[in-house]
Amino acid sequence: MRDETISGKAYDARLMRRLYHYIHPYRVSIVWAFLALTISTGIELFSLYLYKMVVDQFIQNQQRNGLALLCSIYIGLLAAGFIFQYVQFYLVNVMSQKSMYDLRLELFKRLENMSLSFFNRKPVGYLMTRLTSDIEALDSMFANCIVFTFNDLLYIIGLLGVMFYLSPPLTLLVLAVMPMIAWVSIRFKNEVRESYRDVRRLLSELNGFLQENISGMETVQIFGREKTNFNRYSKLTREYRDANIRSVYNYALFYPTVEFLGAITIGLLLWYGGTMLVNNPGFAGTLVAFVISSQKFFQPIRDLADKFNILQTGMTAAERVFSLMDANEIVPAPEKPVTRVIEGGVEFRNVHFAYKDDEWVLKDVSFSATPGKRIAIVGPTGSGKSTIINLLFRFYDVQQGEVLLDGVNVKDYDLRSLRSQIGLVLQDFFLFSGDIKNNISLGRPDIEEDKLIEAAKIVQAHPFIEKMPKGYDAEVKERGATLSVGQRQLLSFARALAADPRILILDEATSSVDTETEFLIQEAIERLIEGRTSLVIAHRLSTIQKADEILVLHHGEIVERGTHHELLARQGMYYRLYQLQYKDQAMPDAVNA
Ligand SMILES: Nc1ncnc2c1ncn2[C@@H]1O[C@H](COP(=O)(O)OP(=O)(O)OP(=O)(O)O)[C@@H](O)[C@H]1O
Ligand SMILES: [Mg+2]
Repeated sequence: MRDETISGKAYDARLMRRLYHYIHPYRVSIVWAFLALTISTGIELFSLYLYKMVVDQFIQNQQRNGLALLCSIYIGLLAAGFIFQYVQFYLVNVMSQKSMYDLRLELFKRLENMSLSFFNRKPVGYLMTRLTSDIEALDSMFANCIVFTFNDLLYIIGLLGVMFYLSPPLTLLVLAVMPMIAWVSIRFKNEVRESYRDVRRLLSELNGFLQENISGMETVQIFGREKTNFNRYSKLTREYRDANIRSVYNYALFYPTVEFLGAITIGLLLWYGGTMLVNNPGFAGTLVAFVISSQKFFQPIRDLADKFNILQTGMTAAERVFSLMDANEIVPAPEKPVTRVIEGGVEFRNVHFAYKDDEWVLKDVSFSATPGKRIAIVGPTGSGKSTIINLLFRFYDVQQGEVLLDGVNVKDYDLRSLRSQIGLVLQDFFLFSGDIKNNISLGRPDIEEDKLIEAAKIVQAHPFIEKMPKGYDAEVKERGATLSVGQRQLLSFARALAADPRILILDEATSSVDTETEFLIQEAIERLIEGRTSLVIAHRLSTIQKADEILVLHHGEIVERGTHHELLARQGMYYRLYQLQYKDQAMPDAVNA
């Protein structure tokens, strides 16, 4: 993906403010988590002091009274610390899950309202990544960084305080090793970031490749592309493997290195502390507590480098998620949306339209239909027929001219109200996973079971649905791959009919079906259209012949218009189309008509 390489900062105040917006509702949990954390850190720091007491007061003086009590206090304290840690860990993670849930919903809602031109430009894989792995990266950042980074800092500062209190010279000794650790950490951070970036980029490429190949497996096998695709896959997978190994290598090197530097520090401490012990036996407790403290000192430092990476990945993800959120390609809503019941008047008035820049797809298209009229649109492929539908549904806005329904510009309608009142049957009918029933009603609560069965009966989809093992409750698998082309078309008619729209739009599929099904489909179309304004992109002679007006589209312009007979008599473009495409469909009597 193109923006996979945003060089994210680890901390960006503007992004943080926006992210905070999602945590805000759960701020009370965070306050509690901070509190629990501060207490558990305090307990841990205090327990260090107990080591010194045990050695100095009990072991050195060979005194046993009270030792058991002190050890019990120690265990009790650690148990309390455990509970506080549990509380804050739980709170933070729940908060993170909840805010990601909110974010996911918001993002999906944005997507649902995006204009279709947006989806034409953004690959599916790109959008999927935003909604899945980027949000996961944010989750990981919320869960690991917000409270815990603060914890690490608090811990390090507290520990330094304790160490200074115990022995300033030994503290300086520990601090002397710090530049080394800092250097190693920074190198590690950079290396890991590089390899992570590769891992993520390759993963998204792999996913895209897999998605394409699995859904296109039929084509792959028909054209014998298995070997070529396997080679491409194996190349991608190899790169992915190597990128992962690189990142593992960094981790494998980093942790032991910090460990080793820690060991050096302890060696130095024991050496220096040991020599001090000779002159000052009372120093033993301090030395023990100090050695333990210094060991604890390295862990949060080591973690900080890791968290820095998580933070950086999270920030990059935030940037991408927000850029998607801000993509302002929502179909603009009118100030006072019209929600009236549409009677069925359709008009295109001098419409000019281009999908991009000035590549005009429709040029000065005008036509109108009073309620109940039938209009057929014919024309060669790519002439702009489906585009007319897109404009009527307001999937896109026209650059010039007007599209009117009942005399009101489509831009002035409430978008949902507009679309819910127009029935649409597309060339490629989209079935969702779920049962047949839901695929007809599309989950609209106002379409009850008897109404949808009625619709199925009218378009004669009922017989084959009934024959299915579970009838209307039968599951539709994999976009209806198990249904025949004809069955899918009848289903799509039932879907359009169930909503009982005043205007019906039909982009007839060209796929050929057997004569019997063809007859069923023709009849279904008749029943579907009856009593409604209809706009049919027609490939069937039978639909075209019955139209009140036929529009012949060529390169985005209406070149001819009239009834079937008028147009035939004219011997123009329609006549030629008829000779080429429709004549063979004609029944013997239709030819002579
Ligand atoms: N989403 C889009 N973005 C950019 N250009 C598009 C888009 N959809 C269609 N076009 C272009 O607009 C022109 C008209 O396409 P349209 O789909 O309206 O043709 P059509 O008449 O329906 O063809 P067919 O009979 O093959 O369905 C074509 O040149 C096509 O390449
Ligand atoms: Mg089309």
